[in-house]
Amino acid sequence: MAYSEKVLDHYENPRNVGSFSKDDGNIGTGMVGAPACGDVMKLQIRVNDSGIIEDARFKTYGCGSAIASSSLVTEWVKGKTLDQALEIKNSAIAEELALPPVKIHCSILAEDAIKAAVKDYKDKHGS
Ligand code: FES
Ligand code: FES
Repeated sequence: MAYSEKVLDHYENPRNVGSFSKDDGNIGTGMVGAPACGDVMKLQIRVNDSGIIEDARFKTYGCGSAIASSSLVTEWVKGKTLDQALEIKNSAIAEELALPPVKIHCSILAEDAIKAAVKDYKDKHGS
């Protein structure tokens, strides 16, 4: 299957790969899996004192579209509030990366990962 140029760019030069230290108290972690294919995505956000996401990391064990989707959203969440991050829709990810229908679930994985990371942060910080 042919990947779009933007998918290839993120796939070959993924942004923000890695993870934050567990000792960092300002982190929210989202770990999600795609039932359709078994791929797994871990996404972390670091939130500053003003409630702004200042950095993000991801590790994705999955297809090129899933890696590109997670790489893209780590860029998109930076500078956003938690509530703004929750507004990121998989349809916007799929559109930006020109994902074909069979790969839409890869972008849903990225949306789910953000939501899980924000929820984890809020759970830990009682907000
Ligand atoms: Fe195997 Fe996504 S279906 S990598
Ligand atoms: Fe399953 Fe991309 S996440 S094929």
